[in-house]
Amino acid sequence: MLKNSDILDEKDKRLKLISKEVQFPLTKKDKDLINKMIEYLHDSQIEELAEKYNLRPGMGMAAIQLGVPKRYFVVVNEYDEGQFETYVIINPKIISNSMEQIYVEGGEGCLSVNRPVEGIVPRYARVTVEGYDIDGKKINVRAREELAIAFQHEIDHLNGILFTDKIDKKNPFKGQDEMRAI
Ligand code: NI
Repeated sequence: MLKNSDILDEKDKRLKLISKEVQFPLTKKDKDLINKMIEYLHDSQIEELAEKYNLRPGMGMAAIQLGVPKRYFVVVNEYDEGQFETYVIINPKIISNSMEQIYVEGGEGCLSVNRPVEGIVPRYARVTVEGYDIDGKKINVRAREELAIAFQHEIDHLNGILFTDKIDKKNPFKGQDEMRAI
């Protein structure tokens, strides 16, 4: 089982790495890691389990956050009260996006950033992501709103970018009038 302490902190330079494309078939190590990521993200969003195992709540995690510089991420999305859907996307690419931009009111969060950070992180309201599933089958996922933000946030991790890098240092609320808050 993954622990909080397995997740790299923002000060760790490995989070700046550009992760490498994954070759198929996946290794057993990668498959095991993916399962642990799913378990962590799922349990962390269930209050009793999060408390019991001391997990910080999060809906997404990229492999590099565990020190593995490979291009894959997991998102476990609570689409309805207590109802979760899991996305594992390997070698993801955004192939189309909306013109409309949105941002998380109150700020985005990240399991590697252990402090509240205010400011606007501009994101597309809708994206289509192409990639591969764990069996190497090509997949195409359309996402909107919070899920679209999660995908963009995780893909940024694969390119060595944290959400805090995207906030304008001088004016953290720059662009607020041109974007919709969610
Ligand atoms: Ni993150």
